[in-house]
Parts: sequence; structure tokens; C-alpha cells
Amino acid sequence: MVEPSDHRILVTGARGQIGSDLVTRLRELYGQDSVIASDVQGQGDVPSPFLHLDVLDQLGLHQAISEHSITTIYNLAAILSAHGEKDPDLCERVNLGGLQNVLDASREYGCRVFSPSSIAVFGPDSRPVAKQETPLNPTTKYGFTKKEGEKMMLKYWEDYGVDARGIRYPGLLSWKTLPTGGTTDFAVEVFSKIQAEGEYTFFVREDTKLPMMMMEDAIRATLLLMEAPGHSLSRWRSGYNVRGMTFSAAELADAIKRRIPSAEMRYVPDSRQKIADSWPQDLDDSFARLEWGWKSTYDLESMVVAMLEGFA
Ligand code: NAD
Ligand code: SER
Repeated sequence: MVEPSDHRILVTGARGQIGSDLVTRLRELYGQDSVIASDVQGQGDVPSPFLHLDVLDQLGLHQAISEHSITTIYNLAAILSAHGEKDPDLCERVNLGGLQNVLDASREYGCRVFSPSSIAVFGPDSRPVAKQETPLNPTTKYGFTKKEGEKMMLKYWEDYGVDARGIRYPGLLSWKTLPTGGTTDFAVEVFSKIQAEGEYTFFVREDTKLPMMMMEDAIRATLLLMEAPGHSLSRWRSGYNVRGMTFSAAELADAIKRRIPSAEMRYVPDSRQKIADSWPQDLDDSFARLEWGWKSTYDLESMVVAMLEGFA
């Protein structure tokens, strides 16, 4: 078993919404120098150590793993749903080509891998509540890459023993780094705009209901899964459903208005509506609860309080 001090971690896509919170938490747990943040973007305000690394650069990835004696990779580099529908080729290259590079390098260097999946693996036939074993019939390119990514990770585990694990994250809510390029972004944007300008126009209809989760819970789920003994994980190891909460845009707006009565919110759906309509409204996460003890802590009301404070 690897002791905490032996952890040498590489995080790809570290400048994104999840990476900026996950790197901080991993550094609290394992030490600043044991966690190498990396991204195809420049360092920005991410504290060192930081590497400029494109997951499509196979050689660069091998060099990073070898030079820093990496034992675990958190592969967060990706193109999200709305961006992916606009540039499907890039979405496939990064989400599948990048993942394959990470898995190939992990096979060579014996690294463990965490790479997220998404509620986007499901299609319209999964509504309203997607179970773990509900058939995966995504209608977006992003969802296709996540479905194929889960299969690829399972294959690398079964055929080559690469310890690859993943979670089907719902839409994630945080205030440190704003989400971009996703469909669930409205559930974060509304807090930022209401606190800054007092008004927000949702890009989805008011009855749009999707699974969501606070970032704090998502990071706890990630670490819980990575700490779980391998023997407790089943064939779902590369894509567990995890439930946080579910609400419609109108229910979110009501919860905000109860706290800020002057807030003005409207609904003008755009092309992202079609993506939202193809995803489940809620998830059954029985397998994650049973196999590695998952339980969320936030509900709609406590989330709204935390998000309003975060953006105040
Ligand atoms: P994000 O878009 O905020 O961040 C992705 C990061 O990847 C960005 O910093 C980007 O610069 C980087 N990147 C893009 N192409 C790259 C490349 N070729 N090489 C290296 N880096 C590259 O995304 P996120 O929200 O942090 O998501 C991380 C992972 O979690 C993704 O796999 C995503 O599909 C999954 N996920 C996120 C959510 C969510 O609500 N945020 C929900 C479900 C699943
Ligand atoms: N939050 C992500 C998106 O909207 C779901 O994977 O793309």
C-alpha cells in the first residue's frame, strides 16, 4: 500500500473548474511538492509546481511522469458538452485521445488513474432517473466520448491491470473557478451574476431539471473512490453514478429569490437546451453507496446559502 508521503500526483487540466479545487485539496493531503498541476493553458495563478502539458503530447506526458516519479494521475483535461457540440473533433481528440495517452503511459509506469465520466453518458431514454445499469445512449459527442472513455478505462483495468477509476459527475457547483463550455454552467452563472448585477438570464427553460452537486462533495467522492480498496469495486469502477441534488431552473430561482427578493431572473433557452433535455433529471447512486460508502451532504437550500456567500 502506498503511504501518503509516497504519493506523487499529476493533475492534467488543472486550471479548470474541478482542477483548481482538487489541486488545493490534494496538496493539503499530500504536500505542495507532491502534486504537480498541469494544463495546456499557462500557469495563471496556480501555485507551483506547474507544468505546461498537453495530454495529446505523448512524449511530454511520459517525460512528466518519469521526471516527477508520478504514482497517480488525475486526468481532468477535457472539452465539455456545449464546447464539444461546437467542435466535436477536438472533443473526441482530447477526451478520448488524451485519455488513451494517459492510460498507455500509466500502463508503462504503473500509475493509478482517476478520469471523470459524466451524466452525459446517458441519453433521453434514461429520463427521469438514471440507474447505474441504465443503457448508455448519449446523443451528444461529449456523452459519446465519456461512454467510450468508461469502456476504455475498464479495458485497461481488465486487460493490463491499470487501476483506473471514474465517477459520472453531475453538474458541479463552485465559486473558485467559473465553469465554461458546459450545459450545467447556468447553475453557477446565476449566483455570480445575481451577486454582481442583480439579474440573470437562464439559457434553459424554467422546467429544466438536472442532477447537480457541490464541488466539496464531488472532491470528497473522488478521494473516497480513490481510497477504496480495489476488491470492493465492481465492473462500474470507471463510471459510478453519484447523487448530490436535483432541481429545476425555476426551483433554483425561487430559492435565490427567497434570500434576495430583488433578484431578477428570466429564461431565454439557446442551443444548450437540447443537450439538457437529453440528460437524466436525477440519478440512482446505490452502487457508489454500497461499494465505497458514498453519501452527499448538501441539498438545494444549503447549497444556495453557500453559493451566495461564496460569490458575495
Ligand atoms: P474545465 O473545462 O473547467 O477544465 C478542463 C481543463 O482542461 C481546462 O483547464 C483546459 O485548459 C484543459 N485542457 C483542455 N484541453 C487540454 C489538453 N489537450 N491538454 C491538457 N489540458 C487541456 O472542466 P472541468 O469542469 O474541470 O472538468 C474536468 C473533468 O470533469 C472533465 O473530464 C469533465 O468532463 C468532467 N466533468 C465535469 C463536470 C462539471 O460540472 N464541471 C461534470 C461532469 C463531468
Ligand atoms: N457539467 C458538464 C457539462 O455541462 C456535465 O458533464 O458539460
